[in-house]
Amino acid sequence: MDGRFLQGRFLQNIFLTGGTDGIGLSAARSLLAMNHRLFITYRNKNKLDAVKYELKSFCDEKQVSFLRCDLSEPDDISEIVNVFSKSKIKLNCLINNAGTILFKKSYNSVGIEKVFATNHLGPFYLTNRLLEKNLIHEGGRIINVGSSAHKTAVLDFNNLDSSNSKSWYERYSRSKLCNLLFTLKLSENLTEKNITVNCVHPGIVDTNIGQDHKGLLQFIIRLVLKYRGISPEQGADTLVYLATNETVQNVSGKYFINRSESNPSKEALKSDIADRLWQESTKLINRFLS
Ligand SMILES: NC(=O)c1ccc[n+]([C@@H]2O[C@H](COP(=O)([O-])OP(=O)(O)OC[C@H]3O[C@@H](n4cnc5c(N)ncnc54)[C@H](OP(=O)(O)O)[C@@H]3O)[C@@H](O)[C@H]2O)c1
Repeated sequence: MDGRFLQGRFLQNIFLTGGTDGIGLSAARSLLAMNHRLFITYRNKNKLDAVKYELKSFCDEKQVSFLRCDLSEPDDISEIVNVFSKSKIKLNCLINNAGTILFKKSYNSVGIEKVFATNHLGPFYLTNRLLEKNLIHEGGRIINVGSSAHKTAVLDFNNLDSSNSKSWYERYSRSKLCNLLFTLKLSENLTEKNITVNCVHPGIVDTNIGQDHKGLLQFIIRLVLKYRGISPEQGADTLVYLATNETVQNVSGKYFINRSESNPSKEALKSDIADRLWQESTKLINRFLS
């Protein structure tokens, strides 16, 4: 981990995944400007250097630390949880923002489809490991960045990672339905601990999402996001609000759009589906941890 730990000088310890681009990078700028201390995941060293240079130019040197982690890889997640554990840093807030759309189907090192692994299984495992190790403060907040794309999705428990699906949109929208199901179930589980869990749809945002390879579809998506999308700053607004605002300090198990509670799909509210997703996700993690 880069950066030294310093207790007490900053408002909250916030762990933000996917803070190197798009909505996450905008959220990072806002949270640092508010004097929070950030831990940000990165994957690519070259990209990190540029982000580090920019963020450290306007905040305290010790205010931001970077952790290498591919969220689709369970071993990477175990490693960063160990880093937190050893350094005895407790988090006030976890923002599961990192996410991907992949047009070309691909798999992580243990054979799980990568969109499912990055968007659901990784955050599921990360969050539960941090909680098991008691690394999130009582009164803390967990924010999952979902999407309105979840509204068309239905899970297939015979093919949970959607590796048989030929549709990139089905793979993505199912992973985003998992974000909602996980949010609502975790929120219930954490009532006693007084840790809140909410999910946010950031809007259609002009970011680099869905640019894994060049083609007509990518070009069309780029145009739609550029001409119809809101800015990454606007896209980050609701998640920064959920992470910091006192008004929502005790609100949990909700789905937010534009700082307001919204209705998730009927599928997202099915507690039997949420229970089954939890069990199957746990089995997958246990099977693949080395
Ligand atoms: N943009 C939209 O219109 C929109 C709409 C609804 C929901 N969302 C959600 O918003 C979140 C952020 O998306 P964005 O639009 O800001 O996308 P983005 O510009 O592509 O940024 C995605 C961030 O996630 C990181 N990331 C991707 N895959 C990862 C992995 N396997 N392990 C670790 N980090 C990974 C990226 O890291 P690198 O820098 O290494 O690539 C980057 O920091 C996602 O959860 C997405 O589903 C976006």
